[in-house]
Amino acid sequence: MRILLLNGPNLGSLGRRQPEIYGSKSLAEIVEACRARAVEGGASLEPFQSNHEGALIDRLERLDFDAVICNFGALSHTSYALHDALLTADRPAVEVHISDVTAREPWRRTSVTAPATQHQVAGHGWQGYLEAVDWLLAVARD
Ligand code: DQA
Repeated sequence: MRILLLNGPNLGSLGRRQPEIYGSKSLAEIVEACRARAVEGGASLEPFQSNHEGALIDRLERLDFDAVICNFGALSHTSYALHDALLTADRPAVEVHISDVTAREPWRRTSVTAPATQHQVAGHGWQGYLEAVDWLLAVARD
């Protein structure tokens, strides 16, 4: 299984971005931990981060993956285009939020992209990405 790990706006700054909320691990460190977990489970993992909605859609359109993990950052709350791109890709998808989006500003409580995913993980810190990898590995084993 080839897993695409998509991260949206401002997630390239993980590690120094509001560490009290998002933790001190960089995106590169998170990617390596996820890659190791995927490889352990017999899968591969390809990361992509962009601050641009269209670039994330272009990446999904390549369809060179079997499953996707996405944290679209603030675009999760606004982007019907990313919702539609996930449906178009038609691959198992897991949405991750590092922080507990239900316990922050009201506008973070709604994700418009989550309904296009099969599973969501929020508020479990960077380890939420590992949970997403594990969920996809378990689905692939079924
Ligand atoms: C986030 C939560 C979003 O509300 C925020 O805009 C982000 C990160 C998270 O991982 O907790 O950029 O997706």
